[in-house]
Amino acid sequence: MGIDNNRAVRGDYSEPTSLAILAHPLEFIHDDHLRERHICAMIDEIAQRRTKEGAVRAVLNFLTHELPLHLQDEEEDIFPLLMQRCEPEDEIERAISKLTVDHAHAGADIPKIVEILERLDAEDTGPDETESAALSHFTTHSRRHLILENAVILPLARARLTDADLDTLRSRMCQRRSLEQR
Ligand SMILES: [Fe+2]
Ligand SMILES: [Fe+2]
Repeated sequence: MGIDNNRAVRGDYSEPTSLAILAHPLEFIHDDHLRERHICAMIDEIAQRRTKEGAVRAVLNFLTHELPLHLQDEEEDIFPLLMQRCEPEDEIERAISKLTVDHAHAGADIPKIVEILERLDAEDTGPDETESAALSHFTTHSRRHLILENAVILPLARARLTDADLDTLRSRMCQRRSLEQR
């Protein structure tokens, strides 16, 4: 499979981010964040026992297939590139160390959230109070994380990364998804 420059492929974030946007890696990250926000809204509905049909499976797919790749894109590529390119006044170290701690917490929380959702899916039921609280806790933290990344990481990446950096980023993101570049 390859990628192209067609950007007229963005949907309403109810589907995984279109691989066609990978030609523009920072746009892909931006769309991944909108997708993550959409998933948070679905998790909140599940927590409130207002689950729409297919929602639990869709969230499970996101948490097990899409989110791990996104976390790797940031930790293995975007954060190191920013550390290399940012100016001292950008104070990027502070933001990245906070975001890296968030990722570690998310890494610990995701299996618990997956376990809850697997149970809800298998038993076709809603969450109990403890499960509901865990789901809400997860979305609160995810949204806080998204706000910081959208406010700091993406603007600095757009300002500081060179064309060569963006090529590296694109090729690493393609490799991670087993895609050839055109
Ligand atoms: Fe992110
Ligand atoms: Fe992140």
